[in-house]
Amino acid sequence: MYSVYGIGNPLMDVIGFESYEFRDSLGKPPGSINLIDEEESKLLMANVNKDNRKINMVAGGSCANTIRGLAWLENIRLKRVKRPPGSDFVYSGAVGNDELGKQYISLMNKYGIRTEIAEKNSITGSSIIIVTPDHERTMFTHLGACRQFSEHDIRFDILEESIFLYFLGFMWDTDSQKNAIKKAVDFARHTGVKVCFDLAGPFVVKRYRDEFLSWLPGNIDILLGNREEFKSLAGIETGDREILKKVKDLASVLVLKRGEDGCMIAEQASGNKDKPLRFTDVCGETVEAKDTTGAGDAFSAGLLYGLLKGKGIVSAAEFANYLASRIVTVPGCDYEALESSSVLLRASL
Ligand SMILES: Nc1ncnc2c1ncn2[C@@H]1O[C@H](COP(=O)(O)OP(=O)(O)OP(=O)(O)O)[C@@H](O)[C@H]1O
Ligand SMILES: [Mg+2]
Repeated sequence: MYSVYGIGNPLMDVIGFESYEFRDSLGKPPGSINLIDEEESKLLMANVNKDNRKINMVAGGSCANTIRGLAWLENIRLKRVKRPPGSDFVYSGAVGNDELGKQYISLMNKYGIRTEIAEKNSITGSSIIIVTPDHERTMFTHLGACRQFSEHDIRFDILEESIFLYFLGFMWDTDSQKNAIKKAVDFARHTGVKVCFDLAGPFVVKRYRDEFLSWLPGNIDILLGNREEFKSLAGIETGDREILKKVKDLASVLVLKRGEDGCMIAEQASGNKDKPLRFTDVCGETVEAKDTTGAGDAFSAGLLYGLLKGKGIVSAAEFANYLASRIVTVPGCDYEALESSSVLLRASL
């Protein structure tokens, strides 16, 4: 039995610590996220990699960050009860047939994750992150092989054995990725696997709104998004409750993330679409946020982990807020930098 089967875009985070001059020479605003092509990516990679300068490699991408969080939580729990680490979490996607792809798979396996990653005849996707002395992160992403993920890369036998299927709206980028997700969801619905979907970003919702509105109903158990994403989906600007009411038929449970204010949950009474939604405000945690990278990804990890450990949705969301609030106090989506005993205490495990 597996806990979560995640499908995402494997992107190696290549983190380079550089001068302001170097960052400025790239001609992009500090803190921006930029999509670059293969040639630009190769050139920048060679530049951050030269003269033995310090670089960090993290197996990243939004979905992978969530699966890493789940594996980290389970590993710290098992360590405490003195049991060997398990491999409950599965991560699937596509990398290139190159050194970076092999490194990516090996890093994920080192975190204790079972990988079902296809190798394509192209370069592995990466996010080159230029960190300046003030800790500002300017990102240059090349999706590369991720975009070639297809339905043939799904291990349906493993998916069938999983409790949750998790993915994000980034998978709508190509027809081949999108069709793979639709096949996986179809299969999940027929085999009783719960489906959890994160809208990914306001630009994703703007681009695929019509498709989401027609495809989501009946396919999703838990729908996650931030305020901007839900607003865009609902097509209205009013308060959070009104927004969630407008899109209530899209999933059984809606979770609207509100940054430092935590989240709001809307639950549909099972089997009865005419009953009013049940709303719960789940307050955020007050922290000194340093870098909000990975907040949403850690939130998903906390939520799924809570549910897997038998918590109800509200209690799982409280833990999700907690884990996400810890992640924003450290640079990047770096679970290893967190104080594991406090996290376990909050998870009440
Ligand atoms: N400044 C903050 N202080 C405390 N908690 C925070 C802060 N920012 C984010 N969080 C936590 O992280 C969760 C997710 O953040 P957010 O609402 O920004 O979602 P998101 O937009 O999906 O995030 P991302 O930009 O990573 O995709 C919040 O619900 C909250 O629990
Ligand atoms: Mg998000």
